[in-house]
Amino acid sequence: MFDSEFSSIEFAGMKLANRFALAPMTRVSAQANGRANELMVDHYKRYAEGGFSLIITEGIYPDQDASQGYENQPGLADALQVESWVPVIKAVHGAGAKIIAQLMHAGAQMQYNRFDKQPLGVTAQKPVGKPLGLYGDQEAWLEPKVMDESDFERVLNGFLHGIRGAVEAGFDGVELHGANGYLLNEILSTHFNTRDDKWGGEMQRRAQFVIDVVKAAREMVADDFVLGIRLSQITITDPDYQWPEGEEGFNWLVQALAEAGIDYIHTTDNDANRPALKDGARSLAEVVRDAGIPLIVNGGIDGTNYAKMAAHYPGALLALGKAALADPQFVKKVEDGDKPDALDFAMLQPIANVENEMRWRAEQED
Ligand SMILES: Cc1cc2nc3c(=O)[nH]c(=O)nc-3n(C[C@H](O)[C@H](O)[C@H](O)COP(=O)(O)O)c2cc1C
Repeated sequence: MFDSEFSSIEFAGMKLANRFALAPMTRVSAQANGRANELMVDHYKRYAEGGFSLIITEGIYPDQDASQGYENQPGLADALQVESWVPVIKAVHGAGAKIIAQLMHAGAQMQYNRFDKQPLGVTAQKPVGKPLGLYGDQEAWLEPKVMDESDFERVLNGFLHGIRGAVEAGFDGVELHGANGYLLNEILSTHFNTRDDKWGGEMQRRAQFVIDVVKAAREMVADDFVLGIRLSQITITDPDYQWPEGEEGFNWLVQALAEAGIDYIHTTDNDANRPALKDGARSLAEVVRDAGIPLIVNGGIDGTNYAKMAAHYPGALLALGKAALADPQFVKKVEDGDKPDALDFAMLQPIANVENEMRWRAEQED
């Protein structure tokens, strides 16, 4: 039979039931000590049961340093945090899906850090706009400490520490968060990275640290442990930023990441298909697709356009954020020809935690 987006697929070495992935979404619902809990087991399990064949977790902090960015964010930084993910992974695997841990260093976007660290920045540049009320109530961005040589080393080791924790917990892989204005993204961005030492300059130089992390991670983990990266130009508060190097620079970056051993590249944009780069007509996802690198595409995919997107990006996974939030049963419903629920942002108020969502859902049933 003709393969559709609902057919099983081999992606980056994983056998998946279909081409639908849950996009990473911060839900600030862990214990204050960063351990995953029962609420999170049920939360992730419902997406696996709803038909998503790959679950990408919310951004998880990998170390006990400056990587944590939000209160009640989960970690993979200590043994009990690692252990706390085991029931989540078991539940997702039990429902037939795979699960990848997104590892995130908050960088200058830190809104809360229980180790009482100052944000770490590639320079002292603060993000544009204001912190997100969705994740807590900080009024203004804090001044970042500028990374020195030892900070680069500590951040790299922090990522490796988190990856070891992810392996031990039983995740199928990790995704490095290089998107949306968090530290790895800031290092790639000329809004933040205006350094004039070896870590700054043109794309080839700005990307060196990210490539170093990928290489070190690849050397450390087994071949069948999936190592992905998420990339964007936009940040959580800046929808307009573009790398100055355009398509050529981005194409160089994706090839360099592939050579460094990345298994997939996950692009995110407000609209996955928009011409994204300073010059040229291609979207970020189209550049990765055309480079022949396993692609997860994200941005604006919903019940009306998923089939077109699947055809436009052959062999790629479609990652859904808001459409999945709106309806954890999305995949099952669209496969059956039913209309998925629409998103009501009220479910994420006053902050985007699972408890508020559950309260909102219960109110809808009353
Ligand atoms: C509540 C919420 C939390 C998010 N948290 C993360 C995150 O932890 N890591 C990440 O890479 N993206 C995060 N995102 C971005 C989504 O993964 C996705 O890229 C974005 O919503 C656009 O895709 P969509 O149009 O399918 O929603 C978050 C989005 C939302 C709505």
